[in-house]
Amino acid sequence: MNKLTVLFYITFFAAVHGLTEEEKMAIHEDCFSQSGVSEEMASKVMDGVFVDDPKLKLYILCFAKKVGIMNDSGDIQVDVFRAKLGTKVPDEVKLNEIIAKCAIKKGTPEETIFALSRCTHGNKS
Ligand SMILES: *[C@@H]1O[C@H](CO)[C@@H](O)[C@H](O)[C@H]1NC(C)=O
Repeated sequence: MNKLTVLFYITFFAAVHGLTEEEKMAIHEDCFSQSGVSEEMASKVMDGVFVDDPKLKLYILCFAKKVGIMNDSGDIQVDVFRAKLGTKVPDEVKLNEIIAKCAIKKGTPEETIFALSRCTHGNKS
């Protein structure tokens, strides 16, 4: 993936709001190499396709931790999530609905953040 593609596709996550391009690239490069996810899989996320793949989950988890949406205990940081998502979903009622529906703790941190991402994406428009 070239740099422009990467920037485009990680901007897709409301999570990167407020970061500089350098910060976004750094997070991507770190998480990309840590998780071992394939470019093809990662770029599918752009189309809203969250393939149920362990490496993709690791990528998203790494990402979420770096931007502060999830902490090291695997707990969703609801305030951070709300602040980031609020930049894409200005309607407070809708925002609260999404949080109530999507910020649900699952069995593992990977599952939690994967479900949150998929759920949030399905709710955005
Ligand atoms: C993670 O967040 C949860 C709830 O917000 C908190 O109870 C827990 O202590 C935090 N863990 C760490 C390692 O910061």
